[in-house]
Amino acid sequence: MKHLIDPTDLTKKETDQIIALAGDMIANKEKYRESQRYGKLATLFYEPSTRTRLSFTSAMMELGGKVLGFSDAKNSSVAKGETVQDTVRVVGAFADVIAMRHNLEGAPLAAAQVSPVPIINAGDGSHSHPTQTLTDLLTIFRELGHIDGITIGFCGDLKFGRTVHSLIKALSRYEDINVVLIAPEELRLPDYIKQDVCDCKSLTFREVSTIEEAIGDLDVLYMTRVQKERFLDEDEFDRVKDSFVLDKEKMKLAKPKMAVLHPLPRVNEILPEVDSDHRAAYFRQVENGKFVRMALITKLLEWRDNPAHAMPVHKGVFEDASLLCHNRKCISCHEPLPHLFKKGADGVVRCCYCDAKV
Ligand code: CP
Repeated sequence: MKHLIDPTDLTKKETDQIIALAGDMIANKEKYRESQRYGKLATLFYEPSTRTRLSFTSAMMELGGKVLGFSDAKNSSVAKGETVQDTVRVVGAFADVIAMRHNLEGAPLAAAQVSPVPIINAGDGSHSHPTQTLTDLLTIFRELGHIDGITIGFCGDLKFGRTVHSLIKALSRYEDINVVLIAPEELRLPDYIKQDVCDCKSLTFREVSTIEEAIGDLDVLYMTRVQKERFLDEDEFDRVKDSFVLDKEKMKLAKPKMAVLHPLPRVNEILPEVDSDHRAAYFRQVENGKFVRMALITKLLEWRDNPAHAMPVHKGVFEDASLLCHNRKCISCHEPLPHLFKKGADGVVRCCYCDAKV
């Protein structure tokens, strides 16, 4: 059975099939109206969401299916201490596919270990957000007409930004990708993300400290929130915060076809004066999210019993009950689960649930 926990659970070919199907769904909406007429999607959201939860709901409704679930785990038996694994065993009896958002990293992976139906990771802590990645890939393709060969700048919180981590991993499978990292010292991209893609010859990294240094070279500017609470020193935040705000003046330095993406919600990192610029693609990106989720649900249900679309076997994975993950935001620190780890090409051992070094 195919789950989507990490962007690399999909092969490049499967990813391209989902993007292509989403494109066809945009062009031929009527054709798909009743295609999941008897299908049921469960949305299990342990953490707040507007776009992801409602776009999943809207996607299943567009396909003619039904939606059940919760948007606040406090109103479910989670409040009585039910584990993630027991919850999905139960919900898997009521639904054909489950989309899960969780504050704990690795919770969707724990769910996938026992689920009788496909699990979709709708965002786990600071770790991963693969359906946002599919949305981003579709948006880049629709805005520029191609994904290969782009120069993309990631700006803001690259340390905790799960959408950034997932998109970099996914882009590492395309050709000739130039990544420009634009972040304050405190919020630089974690080394393990670079390590994950270090074998990839077709992706390069460059780091700069202001938007102005890079914006003229970019085909895509991917903005994210810089959160004050992430800084140890408030003066440091005040010093850097304006370097990471996109305004009309900075847009004057950009290419005429550069696309501005943002997973949203934004706070003040893109000023409203940019919204009317034809290059501001972030609200079109939201709409693409619905179509890509329609395509994903359709494909996961189609692939469910097809061994050609099984989950990939990740190299270097092992179980060791004597090892513990010490990331307090990892599901394995909170619920009884197999102690799963993986040894990377660099020899570093990481937790399979959250990718933290052990
Ligand atoms: N982009 C995104 O994940 O938004 P929500 O948190 O509103 O779902």
